[in-house]
Amino acid sequence: MGRVFVAGSINMDVVATADRHPKVGETVAGQAVHYFSGGKGANQAVSAAKLGASSALIGRLGADAFGQQLRQFLGEQCVDLALVKDTAETHTGTAVIIVADADNTIVVVPGANALVSAEDVAAPQFAKGDVAVSQFEIPQATIGAFFKRARAAGATTILNPAPALPCSRELLGLVDILILNETELGLLAQTELDAADEPSRFIEAARRLPIGSDKIICVTLGKRGVLALIQGEASLIPGRPVKAVDTTGAGDCFVGALAARLAKGRTIHDALEYANAAASICVQRMGAAPSMPTAAEVAALLG
Ligand code: ATP
Ligand code: RIB
Repeated sequence: MGRVFVAGSINMDVVATADRHPKVGETVAGQAVHYFSGGKGANQAVSAAKLGASSALIGRLGADAFGQQLRQFLGEQCVDLALVKDTAETHTGTAVIIVADADNTIVVVPGANALVSAEDVAAPQFAKGDVAVSQFEIPQATIGAFFKRARAAGATTILNPAPALPCSRELLGLVDILILNETELGLLAQTELDAADEPSRFIEAARRLPIGSDKIICVTLGKRGVLALIQGEASLIPGRPVKAVDTTGAGDCFVGALAARLAKGRTIHDALEYANAAASICVQRMGAAPSMPTAAEVAALLG
């Protein structure tokens, strides 16, 4: 069985819940404040670990109280933290999140995540069958170095280009599987997309990405599920009908679950169904990392 290596961000999510999102310049009364473990890298590593994969995180924390709390929580989720460094120069990554109507707005202050370096990602010894995962909350040069090493050893690379940022053709050329939502797809394909668009619009945009037709592209569509382009052929896996409470981390749950399944040697089609089911559980709970499901929960759902 392969291992999952995630190079990515670790954040403390400071979450305020309210009946609705404030407009610019407006103050609304909130209901509660929570401190949840978050950051796209940490969330994806937790998702993979809770689903039974050997999951190692490569990243940085500040030498502060948030850093200590996150290290403890992530260790308790069985994420291997041997390659997570404490950094004295700056603070732990922090995300300020407002959740209302099961949807969120987020401001991320990267702190230590901005310092994750090519040296940091030189440590893992990849083998064929391993899966290397990253996202855009650490420097893109670091992701490039990480993926080059992974591919040289025959590992599979997964990029979740979130949050939406431009990126080079060279980096996309190092990706085996691209997992992105409609906003990220619109930016990379340089086209206007809306969440409510017909699937054909997303397929057309995905086909336009400079990534090569041998690569796999998965466009996550929230409650509508996920659209996959595999060897140029499109298929839609419909979302599962559930009552969403907080969608923060749904994309991360999906990415971690897909990586865990591929590391287990399952096919991409199996991994897509599995990740779609796992993410439907995640959205029914509050928080990012704490809402990731266990393998038993997903197995119960899939019967
Ligand atoms: P986030 O940035 O909030 O983590 P995202 O935009 O990256 O999310 P989404 O496309 O919203 O990712 O969701 C990822 C996956 O989670 C979907 O493809 C689907 O499998 C599942 N999902 C999300 N929202 C729902 C929902 N309301 N009901 C069922 N499944 C959902
Ligand atoms: O994808 C969700 C994550 O994005 C949150 O946990 C937050 O930390 C931001 O990085």
